[in-house]
Amino acid sequence: MNDLNLEAVRVERMRAAVSNLYARNRQRGHADWCDQDYDFVCPSMTTYPFQWFWDSCFHAIVLSHLDPVRAESELRSLLANQQPNGLVPHVTFWQREAFEERWADPSIAYRTPYFSDCMQPPLLAEAVAAVAARGRGEPFLRVVLPAVRRYFDWLHDVRDPDDDGLVAVLQADETGLDESPKFDDYLGVSGDNRPDYDAAWRRVADPYVEVGRDPVRMFALDRFIDEDVMVNTIYAENQRVLGELLAQVGDAAGAADFIARALRTRQALVAKCWDPDAGLFWDLAGLAERPLRTSTMTSLFPLLLPELPEPIAVRLIVQLEDPSAYGTPWPVPTCSRREPAFRPGAIGEHLLWRGASWVNINWYLCRGLRRHGRADLARRIEDSTATMIQRWGFREYYDTLTGEGHGAPDFSWSALILDLLERRAAEA
Ligand code: GLC
Repeated sequence: MNDLNLEAVRVERMRAAVSNLYARNRQRGHADWCDQDYDFVCPSMTTYPFQWFWDSCFHAIVLSHLDPVRAESELRSLLANQQPNGLVPHVTFWQREAFEERWADPSIAYRTPYFSDCMQPPLLAEAVAAVAARGRGEPFLRVVLPAVRRYFDWLHDVRDPDDDGLVAVLQADETGLDESPKFDDYLGVSGDNRPDYDAAWRRVADPYVEVGRDPVRMFALDRFIDEDVMVNTIYAENQRVLGELLAQVGDAAGAADFIARALRTRQALVAKCWDPDAGLFWDLAGLAERPLRTSTMTSLFPLLLPELPEPIAVRLIVQLEDPSAYGTPWPVPTCSRREPAFRPGAIGEHLLWRGASWVNINWYLCRGLRRHGRADLARRIEDSTATMIQRWGFREYYDTLTGEGHGAPDFSWSALILDLLERRAAEA
């Protein structure tokens, strides 16, 4: 068989594997507590049976290749409990009663028993764009865009009080990168045991409860404020995409507004977070905006942005290829190998994001590499990612020295490999 045929066979096998995975992890039913139907893919039946915000956006992107009708349902369920102020909760516990006994996480801030009070990385516009492009197009956009816009207005109005174009998270799990070592100093944890994190959670969350979890008062407490580079890169990208979607439905003023907001966010990332000496971007912590100088994949994330100045992109790619930083045998570590905190794979007590490889991060970085002329490196990362999945199944994360899969089994967003392979097939 020639290369093109081999590639076609690989994509077909991956489609079949992902279809099976998404059948196993599908959650459908009626929730009496809000009197609404739901239909979504959960991250993993073993560990995460509910609907998570950024997971769900990734799942919708994957579903857009398999079943556009289900992809729409995924997003409809995600938006079903949007709050009047625009917030879309980071977890919705649709079928909570069914899992009450085996699922309890003390470190989730609830708005009601059925959904959380937090955000996650805002890739909603990218998910809507993928579903519209492979599905019903404009009619779907017209239904969904008002809610998407309200969500981005909430981010802008509530999460950027200093109005610098960068949104802030108020607790670590809002970044989606729960135990990333970049927060160790700021949180006052050593990074090697769960009780430390539980205590740190209480130091942040208890005072929040005392101020009624009102964002204005939470900011004023200055307990945990993070202008996160990954979250803001995704924010910039999604404001731009939302601008393009609004243009598609003929809203020229809305489009111009969001394109301008995207530009501000990108400019603020470069002006405030880029460190030319280190060749890395740093999150900014607290009202004083202190840089969090631990090199994690967050520091490379602005590579995603097409308009990132080329000299900066080149320096980020140097780090990605450097075997002593991010060029590990299996790509891409979520923490640089140079950091003492680097852990390549499974960690006891399930501490996440400390150096293993996660498919959603590879998905973003590969797209950034293509945008900056490095399709060759993107293909290598994609091939290695596909190999890890073929060997170990759809796992939550993979060891960056051995490729071995760890964490939750049957983990749904690892199916993003299908999107990468389908994009490649479309280019060939
Ligand atoms: C973990 C991850 C978070 C993800 C959730 C569900 O908490 O850190 O990013 O959304 O699991 O998969």
